[in-house]
Amino acid sequence: MKITVLNGSPRTKGNTAALIAAFTEGAESKGHEVTVLPVGTMKIGGCRGCEYCHTKGGGTCVQKDDMEQVYPALAESELVVLASPVYYFGLTGQLQSAVSRFYAVMAPAAKKWALILTSGSPNVYAAIEAQYKGILNFIQAQDLGIFEYNGKQVGTEAALREVRDFGASL
Ligand SMILES: Cc1cc2nc3c(=O)[nH]c(=O)nc-3n(C[C@H](O)[C@H](O)[C@H](O)COP(=O)(O)O)c2cc1C
Repeated sequence: MKITVLNGSPRTKGNTAALIAAFTEGAESKGHEVTVLPVGTMKIGGCRGCEYCHTKGGGTCVQKDDMEQVYPALAESELVVLASPVYYFGLTGQLQSAVSRFYAVMAPAAKKWALILTSGSPNVYAAIEAQYKGILNFIQAQDLGIFEYNGKQVGTEAALREVRDFGASL
């Protein structure tokens, strides 16, 4: 299946990227097609609330930026993986901006989702989990797995194996 990973980290060689690489390795070993979009370094503005998308725009956003690479991925992928470092108990601002822009399509076509989070401390995931579950409930999509690694776990072979095995299990 087609899989898109949205990497919210601005650190292209950071902890989130390492987990995504392991996930990709596992998924590709089973023939899945994985595209990683580096949302953390892309130019994506937050939703302006102008409602162009729900009026004249007919589901398209008035802002023409790197989100134009994300919309087709949301439409064509069977599985979307949100991957992000925890920034002050939330997603990174960059990924949050992209998520706010889902509003233009209301319910992305992808109906399978997963979440990969990294953080310094343990037990900092509640707000993101609540948002993620709320989105899935709203768009009537299925959660395939939530993977969370704090500073002691991230980069360990156990963590990398877990996400690699998840990719290979798809
Ligand atoms: C701006 C900023 C905010 C952060 N906020 C938190 C936080 O609230 N809780 C936490 O445990 N770690 C926090 N961290 C640590 C990162 O989540 C952690 O180092 C993560 O693994 C970085 O991932 P990356 O290498 O993919 O960028 C923060 C780091 C930064 C730079």
